[in-house]
Amino acid sequence: MNGLLHVDQVSVSAGGTRILHSVEMTLHPGEMCAVIGPSGAGKSSLIRVLLGIWKPDSGSVRVGGKPVDEVGPLGYVPQDDALHRGLTVAKELGFAAELRMPGESKDARAERVDRVMAQVGLTDRAQTRIRRLSGGQRKRVAVGLELLTRPPLLILDEPTSGLDPGLEARTMSLLADVAASGRIVLVSTHAMESLESAQALCVLVEGHVAFFGRPRQALEFFRVERYAQLFHQLDKLTPSAWRLTAGADAGQRRFLNRPGPVAHPSSTVAGEAVEVAGS
Ligand SMILES: Nc1ncnc2c1ncn2[C@@H]1O[C@H](COP(=O)(O)OP(=O)(O)OP(=O)(O)O)[C@@H](O)[C@H]1O
Ligand SMILES: [Mg+2]
Repeated sequence: MNGLLHVDQVSVSAGGTRILHSVEMTLHPGEMCAVIGPSGAGKSSLIRVLLGIWKPDSGSVRVGGKPVDEVGPLGYVPQDDALHRGLTVAKELGFAAELRMPGESKDARAERVDRVMAQVGLTDRAQTRIRRLSGGQRKRVAVGLELLTRPPLLILDEPTSGLDPGLEARTMSLLADVAASGRIVLVSTHAMESLESAQALCVLVEGHVAFFGRPRQALEFFRVERYAQLFHQLDKLTPSAWRLTAGADAGQRRFLNRPGPVAHPSSTVAGEAVEVAGS
């Protein structure tokens, strides 16, 4: 199964209301998926299901053929980070490495911390206290914590909210590099300008998948020129009609069943430069 993330017909209800309706999705190692949708569409709920925190009423989530709750630790960056503001970047990562890599030698942990700091571009901030970092730098520390143990699946809930457009684009490109090093990255976002850093795009509306495919395909499917216009189209059909239309779309069916990962346009080289796949 090669580490494939397979979300099969997942439905979830809470308090008598259905929150996710037969969600289908596939992601290969090496791919990043952006999940977008209006507020309340079910992005955070989907993330909870993918992390195995929420059991679906029906359907399944599998990674490499195994139920997600049997897969080792996954990386999760919540919307609000829980960093220790008084610690330096190196100390924060160092303590996390002690907790998360107990079987490894001190030298191996120190080496891993150095490597992760380089990967998220914070080597020159190693001795800076977290409270003195910018919002974007703090997000990168939070991402770095999850990279220490090289999880097969890294999930981030709106890591770019509150960042300026430049930082938003840089964060998305960092995440694309992480995916290029052989991981699956799934990120819920409002960063409509950076969607093409992702190999896959999932558009949710009221718990229904209105689109799952290549970002560029979405422009064609919704008949818009820019991603920012895409949400205006969602009112044109009911959410369940969107799911049916997406499900009947030959291009999206092919994408769902693609045999291997979508190639990275240019970031593969950058990904290898920061971390060689599988190292
Ligand atoms: N534990 C719960 N019990 C009942 N309803 C819930 C629960 N969690 C979420 N919901 C409902 O499910 C829907 C989807 O919520 P969710 O938080 O997944 O949306 P979202 O797409 O992440 O929105 P946002 O962009 O605002 O973060 C909302 O209508 C919400 O009220
Ligand atoms: Mg949310």
